This record gives sequence, C-alpha cells and structure tokens, in this order.
Amino acid sequence: MSERLEARQLRKVYRDPGGEVVALADFSYTFPAGAVTAIMGPSGSGKTTLLNLLAGLDTPSAGAVRLGDATVSTLSERERAELRLRRFGFVFQSYNLIAVQNALQNVAFPMGLAGVGSAQRKQKALELLGRFGLETRASHLPHKLSGGERQRVSVARALANDPDVLFADEPTGNLDSKSGRVVVAALRQAATEGRTVILVTHDLRLVDEVDRVLELADGLLQRERVPATVSS
Ligand SMILES: Nc1ncnc2c1ncn2[C@@H]1O[C@H](COP(=O)(O)OP(=O)(O)OP(=O)(O)O)[C@@H](O)[C@H]1O
Ligand SMILES: [Mg+2]
Repeated sequence: MSERLEARQLRKVYRDPGGEVVALADFSYTFPAGAVTAIMGPSGSGKTTLLNLLAGLDTPSAGAVRLGDATVSTLSERERAELRLRRFGFVFQSYNLIAVQNALQNVAFPMGLAGVGSAQRKQKALELLGRFGLETRASHLPHKLSGGERQRVSVARALANDPDVLFADEPTGNLDSKSGRVVVAALRQAATEGRTVILVTHDLRLVDEVDRVLELADGLLQRERVPATVSS
C-alpha cells in the first residue's frame, strides 16, 4: 500500500553568525514500509533536522528525499503542504491538540482540511478513537485527558487521512513508561497496516519495541541495528 520513503545523500548546513553547523552529512537510507524505524542519538546529533527534511518541513542543502515517484525536496512549498496533509501524519512530544476542540473534533480536523464531508469525518474519527481504546473519551477536551490518552488521540489524528508515512518526534517524552508503551503499540499497529513509521526518540526503553534503529552522531549515520527481540 505504502510507497517507499528514501533519503539520498541528504545534507543540511545551518549558517549562523558563529559560522556553519553541519547538522546532517550525506545521509542515505530507504525506510522500510510496514515497520517502525527509530532514529536515536545524542542531543544535537541531527535527529530533528533529519525528520524535518524527510517530512518536507525543511529543505536540504544537498541531496534528495523521495516518496515513490515524487521528489519531496524539490516540490514547491504549496505542494509539500498538500503532501504533508494527505500522505504524512505527525505526532509530537507535546501532542499539539487543539485545546478548545474535543477528542473527536481533533481527530476529524485534518479530514476537514482534506475536504472530507462531515458525516464521514465523524464516522472515521470515531472508528480511529475506538481503535486506540478511546471510544468513551470522544467528547472530552484535551485537558480532561491523561497524557497517554492525549498522545493516543494524536496518533488517531495522524492517521485520519490514511498517511503513507507516520512521523513521531519524541512521542513518549512526556509520558511514564506504561503510557509510553501503549503509544508505541499504537505506532506499531500503524506499521502493521503497511505504513512507514519513523520515530525519533531518546528513550532506550523503546529499542526492543521497534524494527530498526538508526544511530546518529554528529550528523552522521553511525550504524543500523535490527533489534533481535521484535516479534511481528
Ligand atoms: N535553525 C538552526 N540554526 C542553526 N543551527 C541549528 C538549527 N537547528 C539545528 N541546529 C543545529 O544542528 C545540530 C542538530 O540539531 P537537531 O535539532 O537536529 O538535533 P537533535 O538530534 O534533534 O537534538 P535533540 O535530541 O536535543 O532534540 C545542532 O548542532 C543544532 O544546534
Ligand atoms: Mg530534536
């Protein structure tokens, strides 16, 4: 179902008054569909930079990102926004839910942007909430939900437009280990549906929950590991 997300010799150099920072140097990798790939590495190693380039939120200094036949990195700003809406989903450490909308409305929101009619939005949003055990929370505002519940609402929202790729930057950063595991289980479930899931994390407890681990240091891919314990 999903098309391959591919990075080819990606490079990102930031220029600031202090000089140049090579945040990412010649990164090449093909992310497998139907799997969760974790990107790990110390603070400043380039994880968020890489995620932003892959997701078309930022443009590389050199190299390319491809999704199937599309070269993400050469699309116009407008085309990238369209791609993010329809083919990518995002989960953030701080949830980024709309505070004045309930769980159902939050999940339905990206479908509204994509032009899906209201009855269908509601039906799909309820189905997604149910999938993550949140059927009784549909009418709750975010502040009435626990952190783990909020993050599951975010995963449901990220899946609303049936993305090929799901990006998550430190999704368990604000959660205790039990809620974190439930959120990672939700991400793994998205992968079993054939999606490409890319997870940036510091959390070593998650290593055994993912299919691949890429280790970055100083903007370089140090190694790729395939944890032995994953059962799929
Ligand atoms: N907009 C920017 N301008 C200048 N330098 C930047 C910018 N964004 C990131 N950097 C630098 O690029 C390098 C990589 O940063 P990045 O945010 O990708 O790291 P990270 O691995 O996500 O770190 P963390 O784990 O702390 O989130 C760092 O040295 C950072 O200071
Ligand atoms: Mg970061």
